Amino acid sequence: MDVDVAAFRALEPLCWRAPSAHNTQPWRLDHRAGAIRVGWEPADTLPAADPSGRDLWLSLGAFVETCLVVAADAGLRLEYVADHDAEDRRVGWLRPSRHRYDTPFDAAQVRGRRTHRGRFSAGPDAELVAAVDTVARRAGGTARVVPEAGRWGRLIRAADRHLYADPAVVAELRSWLRLTPGHPDYHADGLTDRCLGLSRAEATGLRAALAAYPVLRRVGLPRLLATAAGDPLALGGTVLVLVGPSGMDDVARVGFGRVLMRTWLTLHAAGLAAHPLSQLIDAPATRAALGSLLGVAPDRLLHVARVGRPSGPAPRSARRLDDTRHAPG
Ligand SMILES: Cc1cc2nc3c(=O)[nH]c(=O)nc-3n(C[C@H](O)[C@H](O)[C@H](O)COP(=O)(O)O)c2cc1C
Repeated sequence: MDVDVAAFRALEPLCWRAPSAHNTQPWRLDHRAGAIRVGWEPADTLPAADPSGRDLWLSLGAFVETCLVVAADAGLRLEYVADHDAEDRRVGWLRPSRHRYDTPFDAAQVRGRRTHRGRFSAGPDAELVAAVDTVARRAGGTARVVPEAGRWGRLIRAADRHLYADPAVVAELRSWLRLTPGHPDYHADGLTDRCLGLSRAEATGLRAALAAYPVLRRVGLPRLLATAAGDPLALGGTVLVLVGPSGMDDVARVGFGRVLMRTWLTLHAAGLAAHPLSQLIDAPATRAALGSLLGVAPDRLLHVARVGRPSGPAPRSARRLDDTRHAPG
């Protein structure tokens, strides 16, 4: 049995709607006889911000899950086989299967899901939190609510300050920021001013501050940038943490990227959205604090996001492959 490569290629722009940290879209597909190789491009990874590769594996897993959902919706029978090979920069294969991938989600949900960094009018109710937790538990993980998350504003600022104090992290972030529509990759990848919810003046200010970073770093710019980033927890919602089992390797982390995608689609299907706050796990002090609050080893924390019902629509993020030629966005 071979993959219907032509049919799958036509679906790829929609598969690229998968989410990735900094919207780097690190995945690469390579069509071979009988199977499609799922690999990654090192230039689209985040060695400074994501030295452990945690977000890379999660993003690749989210992409795999998205491919399976999109293929199933189109009637293509595909399965994913993990086959991790760091030297070949490969996580696995999409292969023909005798059965349609069993998923409650569809292509329209993949197309409509968005990260939402704005205000939430409400958090998820207990039933939805339980549904998200069930999705995680089926894979050996759990989704936990952070109690009294409103008090975490100070910790978020501390985590932001930690990140902004590292010139390599800032340089990397800057290379993926698209703060003016004139940026050559504005419609291709990275984080746009619109997606970050910045006004024109705020985007201009951030550009200037980042350009001056090498000079101003020692005189308090990291603190200033962290303060300017504001307190996302004041924008409402509930903070949910995806927790994995102990001793996860990279293959398991890709598996949890698939789980992460399923949890986001579960939220989206209920009219809710996620706003990831990865800095809370990236900075060692806040990772430790979060771990001890939840009573789990810090290395089991995979992802943290503010989750809720958006007060308004979120802008659509860019992709290198554009699916709007195939269907209404
Ligand atoms: C593993 C992972 C980590 C992420 N971390 C953050 C984060 O810390 N802050 C944030 O604002 N967005 C974060 N995002 C969201 C991405 O920036 C977003 O998915 C990407 O820009 C594409 O936008 P979309 O989700 O609206 O399609 C993360 C996404 C993934 C998959």
